[in-house]
Amino acid sequence: MSDTEGVALKLQDFLRLMRTRWITVCASVLVAVVVAIAVTLMTTPQYQASTRLFVSASAGNSASDVYQGNRFSQERVVSYAQLLMGETLAQRTVDKLGLDMTAASLQQKVSATAKTDTVLIDVHVLDPSPVRARDIANALSDEFVTMVRELETPEGAVTPDARVVVEQRATVPSSPVTPKKVRNLLLGVVAGFVLGIGLAIVRDLLDNTVKSREVLEEITDVGVVGGIQLDKERRKNPAILFGKDNSAIAESFRKLRTNLSFLTVDNPPRVIVVTSSIPNEGKSTTAINIALALAESGNNVALVDGDMRRPTVHKYLDLVGPVGFSTVLSGAVPLTEALQKTQFDGLTVLAAGTTPPNPSELLASQAATKVLAELRAHFDYVIVDSSPLLAVTDSAILAANADGALIMVRYGQTKREQLAQAVETLHGVGATLLGAVFTMIPSKGSGAYAYSYSYYGESKEK
Ligand SMILES: Nc1ncnc2c1ncn2[C@@H]1O[C@H](COP(=O)(O)OP(=O)(O)OP(=O)(O)O)[C@@H](O)[C@H]1O
Ligand SMILES: [Mg+2]
Repeated sequence: MSDTEGVALKLQDFLRLMRTRWITVCASVLVAVVVAIAVTLMTTPQYQASTRLFVSASAGNSASDVYQGNRFSQERVVSYAQLLMGETLAQRTVDKLGLDMTAASLQQKVSATAKTDTVLIDVHVLDPSPVRARDIANALSDEFVTMVRELETPEGAVTPDARVVVEQRATVPSSPVTPKKVRNLLLGVVAGFVLGIGLAIVRDLLDNTVKSREVLEEITDVGVVGGIQLDKERRKNPAILFGKDNSAIAESFRKLRTNLSFLTVDNPPRVIVVTSSIPNEGKSTTAINIALALAESGNNVALVDGDMRRPTVHKYLDLVGPVGFSTVLSGAVPLTEALQKTQFDGLTVLAAGTTPPNPSELLASQAATKVLAELRAHFDYVIVDSSPLLAVTDSAILAANADGALIMVRYGQTKREQLAQAVETLHGVGATLLGAVFTMIPSKGSGAYAYSYSYYGESKEK
């Protein structure tokens, strides 16, 4: 792999991460910005007043004397800067101004910097009050002038060796130096972004949901026979109008239909249970549309709602609910009377019926086997919607009585171990697993990137 390819791949990974985890990144930036704003608001504003001191040495008139004097002053400024921040001067300033603070706390407010190779010292005083900052800066500088005169006058002499002049006095500062609003905010954004990316990577590493056909095939040990996109329209109208609809999702169902007929060519499955590991994986919606897709190609299809605990097929298709599978199994109504014609050509529905107290028992009964056999005799295909495998045994029992089951796997939601457990449940009752179907694959972002809509023998480019 060339370097540019490597970089492109990393960039692609990064973009994919941003697309799938942008909520994490945005939330992290938001939290960091809120923290930055809170810190900014909670910081007491500090004002800074500054003075500039000039150091000179008493020198003679000759050029060399002047030079010597200058050297002398330059050497002095470093020590002076230390003295300016020292405790003695702080105490003298506190006394002079009659401040209600200790010398140590005043020391904290003072900083003095000597500019190298110059004879200048800048003194800065920080204080919550701008006026007091100025007063302290000026008083401290004046005191320092006096202090230097005392220190630099040799015993018995009159004139000191060095002198300090307050070259620039402090004025009342107009705006505080801290908090630095813009800096804090920028820091918040940058820190939040970096943290967000880190979190996103960690979440990605910890994500053990099924997201690729390789993983899906490895866990189920069967082929992936379909990939159904996430399509918001399906929440309003679960049934696709196959006659008029050529959307991508309709095409996916047509492909799924074709793949079903290839499953076992000599004896293709005709009674198929649609199941999944956990609730809300799109079983009912997919079952309805598999049935409709089969009906579109001229088959006579029966759709059975085998989910007696949370029946939805009648709701999704605007049919009558109370008379159906459970009513037939209890012997209250004959099968022919419970079947409902639908507005779709070739599709007949057996709703779930009233919820019985013992769905598993009913579905395991001889009567259930008989009903399925009767349906098989009258229809080209019998599609059975069912309940989640990890919740109850209903769908495993149904699958054992049918030609096999298709397992729905909601993209990026179903965890690997959940799927593995569901597959084991099916094997446990001796049911045939016909194939796996990805449901609700996001059409943009990660989904489109990680999952290519290709099945047996098709090229991956599509
Ligand atoms: N392809 C899809 N695109 C968008 N939304 C979908 C799709 N398939 C199903 N949904 C929505 O997901 C939700 C669950 O779908 P559905 O009822 O079909 O799942 P289920 O597995 O049968 O659930 P349950 O376990 O409760 O029976 C519904 O709101 C449905 O509208
Ligand atoms: Mg359902």
